Amino acid sequence: MVSGNPAMSMLTSVLKQLLAPKAAARRAMPIPAGEPHAAHANALLDAFMRNSDRVVHKWLHYFEVYQRAFDRFRGRPLTFLEIGIQNGGSAALWRDYFGPQARIIGVDIDPRCKALESDGFEVWIGDQADPAFWQAFLQAHPRLDVVLDDGGHTMRQQIVTFESLFGALEDGGLYLCEDTHTSYLPAFGGGLRVPGTFHEYVKDLIDEMHAWYHAPVQELEHGAFLAKNILSISIFDSMVLVEKRLKNPPLALARGLQGHVGLPPATTHLDLRRANGVPDAGVPRSPAPDQPFT
Ligand SMILES: C[S@@+](CC[C@H](N)C(=O)[O-])C[C@H]1O[C@@H](n2cnc3c(N)ncnc32)[C@H](O)[C@@H]1O
Repeated sequence: MVSGNPAMSMLTSVLKQLLAPKAAARRAMPIPAGEPHAAHANALLDAFMRNSDRVVHKWLHYFEVYQRAFDRFRGRPLTFLEIGIQNGGSAALWRDYFGPQARIIGVDIDPRCKALESDGFEVWIGDQADPAFWQAFLQAHPRLDVVLDDGGHTMRQQIVTFESLFGALEDGGLYLCEDTHTSYLPAFGGGLRVPGTFHEYVKDLIDEMHAWYHAPVQELEHGAFLAKNILSISIFDSMVLVEKRLKNPPLALARGLQGHVGLPPATTHLDLRRANGVPDAGVPRSPAPDQPFT
């Protein structure tokens, strides 16, 4: 029985409205109780729930992540790229959400999406799994502020797209890959802890972000782009958010005059690793992610 459970009743009501004829669907829909963002104002979620225009297809819990990640870009000039635009509904949502100063670009493999350009965004038709496509794209758009990958969701598509575009993000930019639950779905090349999935790739990214502590010192001086440019990697259910920002090498300081433990006034990552048995030549590691990053 559904009626005794308030959360289930709410969900049933949402589903009924979703399946109802279009006129009824125009009415504002309630958000299921218990969703973490239910109690907070969320302009994008609000617009999504009220949408009666082109279809948008998103998991409900993504809206809290969008709000956390994207709010600071609203009303500002930015270049926003969404891979996977399908019916054009999400691109329209982004256009309205970010405001008139935003340039919204969509990429899709389906040539029918080109017609959506009349809705006020630029559309590129191409295969996100093809590095040559991204090379051509970046000739036209060398710098991006926000990339959202909602394309085909296979492992190769997600990895090639990240490797092609992360380096093109502006300092302070964001890369958000969604539907990363496909890392567990065999139909997409996924499977729990199967090598080569996007989530396994992201685990390697964590190591690359920490290259300061294990890579050859020479590599840190001349390369280690990911260690120097990944500010954070946030994992949400089915979403990976990578924040790009150029960083200084890590440094620990001891500040203050009193205490019973003597500490060096400054400690670098090299001091730390040398004192703890990591050779300057670095420790053996499986190949780093391909290095198209510049
Ligand atoms: C999940 S839908 C996008 C939904 C849309 N963002 C929304 O929120 O309503 C995925 C889209 O990715 C496109 N796609 C699939 N494989 C692709 C590829 N290899 N390169 C580019 N786009 C692809 C599909 O044509 C489809 O339109």
